[in-house]
Amino acid sequence: MTKKILLAYGTVAGSTAEVAQAIAEEMTAAGVQVDVEPVESVKDLAGYDAVVVGTAVRMFHVLGKTRRFMREHRKELQNVPVAYFLVCLMMGEETPENIQKATDFAKPMIATKVPISLGLFGGCIDHEKLTDVIGQSMKVLPEQDHRDWDKIRAWAREIYPQLLGTD
Ligand SMILES: Cc1cc2nc3c(=O)[nH]c(=O)nc-3n(C[C@H](O)[C@H](O)[C@H](O)COP(=O)(O)O)c2cc1C
Repeated sequence: MTKKILLAYGTVAGSTAEVAQAIAEEMTAAGVQVDVEPVESVKDLAGYDAVVVGTAVRMFHVLGKTRRFMREHRKELQNVPVAYFLVCLMMGEETPENIQKATDFAKPMIATKVPISLGLFGGCIDHEKLTDVIGQSMKVLPEQDHRDWDKIRAWAREIYPQLLGTD
């Protein structure tokens, strides 16, 4: 039977959803079946051979809805290989310090289940998409987009054989 990956993502302004889509496209092009769902829409993990969880970071934490996903599916996550990716401004500049700080954001996820890989990607500020009350406060920052699509797609190609045990 064809193996299937769930790619669950947590986003507010949409940039993490676009990263999730790019990762799914790369895996699909390699013949892998992938379902891409917002974390809040996932009912259970039944039928999946592996799970990728991607999330935006806000106020030095992964999104609350991603933390909720990890909590609600804690038991099921123990039964499948997982990979995580974070999208945050901290990774706009890939210094060793920033990589360490971004890795620290993922600690609660890693405590739930150790991933086979943690992707750390630069995020963006798009004023038009910051429509929520807290998001508005970040309009003081200039518009910017640090997403490195080559890096994101390379990560997707690197992890799926490990997730599916075909490497
Ligand atoms: C209100 C707010 C708080 C943020 N806090 C952080 C932060 O603490 N650390 C960080 O690296 N990036 C932070 N960011 C940047 C986001 O991680 C970045 O904009 C990301 O692309 C958002 O993903 P989304 O479009 O999927 O919501 C923040 C952005 C906003 C709007």
